[in-house]
Amino acid sequence: MDGNGRWARQRGRARAAGHQAGFHTTRDIVESAARRGVEALTLFAFSSENWRRPQTEVGLLMDLFLRALNSEVGKLSENNVQIRFIGDRSAFKPRLQTEMDNAEALTANNQGLKLAIAVNYGGRWDIVNAAKAIARDVQSGMLDVDSVDERAFASYVSLADIPDPDLFIRTGGEKRISNYLMWHLAYTELYFTDVLWPDFSDEELGAAITFYAGRQRRFGKTGEQVSSA
Ligand code: IPE
Ligand code: MG
Repeated sequence: MDGNGRWARQRGRARAAGHQAGFHTTRDIVESAARRGVEALTLFAFSSENWRRPQTEVGLLMDLFLRALNSEVGKLSENNVQIRFIGDRSAFKPRLQTEMDNAEALTANNQGLKLAIAVNYGGRWDIVNAAKAIARDVQSGMLDVDSVDERAFASYVSLADIPDPDLFIRTGGEKRISNYLMWHLAYTELYFTDVLWPDFSDEELGAAITFYAGRQRRFGKTGEQVSSA
């Protein structure tokens, strides 16, 4: 979800206004995705690199995050959304960690949209974390090294219980993955748009899905093999 700062600057406003507008977009897009029957949606809200921003902006994002949890979780739960957070949450204030735990507990049994929010997340962190957990299990004798294949490895990374993403969307014009779901994106269709996140809309989401629908997913096979299957 990129482009909040530029959106604000274009309007001669403070970056905070961009983040506030971005929050409204996020709320709308979660609703759109649920309405469109999307099974799982993962949002990159705060990366492990975003701590490098000025302290005031980091503080502001944390406040917004806490306010968003307070105002949205109840409604999301009523709409059957299952919420989880991925990333290293130990870096957040205890209050925020508690709210995240509560949101997950409250919505754990919901059967609707699986919403994951990546906070203090990095794709490489995720892979390293998995490698460490595997090493621990091997060390304790729970896991045989020779049984570690891609499938086994995948069960140790975040989002292990949901399918790899079909579609990746990055707003704001940059054509980068920026250390997002490095493991999971291996076969994902990548969609980049210049639209700034606060301007993203249900219509833009529709355009991304239309792009996706036009792709042929070959997973290493030839086009002929796929179209005759
Ligand atoms: C993305 O918008 C929001 C977060 C990282 C929280 P940016 O803040 O990166 O917006 P730009 O890139 O400065 O426009
Ligand atoms: Mg940015």
